[in-house]
Amino acid sequence: KRLVVIGPPGSGKGTQSPIIKEEYCLCHLATGDMLRAAVATKTPLGIKAKEAMDNGQLVSDDLVVGIINDAIKKPSCQKGFILDGFPRTVVQAQKLDEMLDKQGVKIDKVLNFAIDDAILEERITGRWIHPSSGRTYHSKFAPPKVAGVDDVTGEPLIQCKDDTAAVLKSRLEAFHKQTEPVVDYYKKNDVVADIHAEKPPKEVTVEVEKALS
Ligand code: AP5
Ligand code: ZN
Repeated sequence: KRLVVIGPPGSGKGTQSPIIKEEYCLCHLATGDMLRAAVATKTPLGIKAKEAMDNGQLVSDDLVVGIINDAIKKPSCQKGFILDGFPRTVVQAQKLDEMLDKQGVKIDKVLNFAIDDAILEERITGRWIHPSSGRTYHSKFAPPKVAGVDDVTGEPLIQCKDDTAAVLKSRLEAFHKQTEPVVDYYKKNDVVADIHAEKPPKEVTVEVEKALS
């Protein structure tokens, strides 16, 4: 399967994608995670991406299209992939279609994580991440066994610099202006499944499974 997950910051893309990845044996490509890794290791890509990310704005289409173009060619992604956080503009969606055309494949399903903006602030400001695995917790909704510590490795959890109410506001603006039109772009192909992302995590998983069966 070739899947796209679209939703605002905090809608649960990064929570659900690893579950879907396991179930369908896909590769999970999260442009946000890839960019954060590039910023942390100060690669040329990371240096270019940092300012936009810190301000809650989108990184340029060329940079992210380049990352995805390299990633989906990898042998591990040939069986299928789940794109988390990409495409985020109509231009990115068009470029993705061009890449897939060359491989003679197409997107099977777009999961549209619909949720009210009002719920997102609490989710984003309570998020804790285990940087090396990408495991995500929430101080209230999905707490680790020991506060501030990863369940699996015992390593410390961190909070992201852009996970503040102020930066969330810009990220939401970018979402409504630049990313919502991507849902309409895919509606033409009749591949969009709307998911009620405000439900508890397990119920969201059930909805996603239904949409994919
Ligand atoms: P990115 O990392 O993609 O961030 P985002 O889209 O803002 O989404 P988040 O990761 O914040 O939210 P999520 O939906 O994954 O939620 P999560 O599952 O963690 O992008 C970051 C930046 O990179 C962008 O701002 C941009 O600058 C750049 N970028 C990335 N891709 C780009 C692109 N294609 N083009 C240009 N620029 C790009 O959940 C959030 C919290 O809620 C967690 O604590 C979780 O435990 C909790 N939670 C999850 N589900 C539930 C639930 N059902 N009920 C209660 N709590 C829940
Ligand atoms: Zn995420």
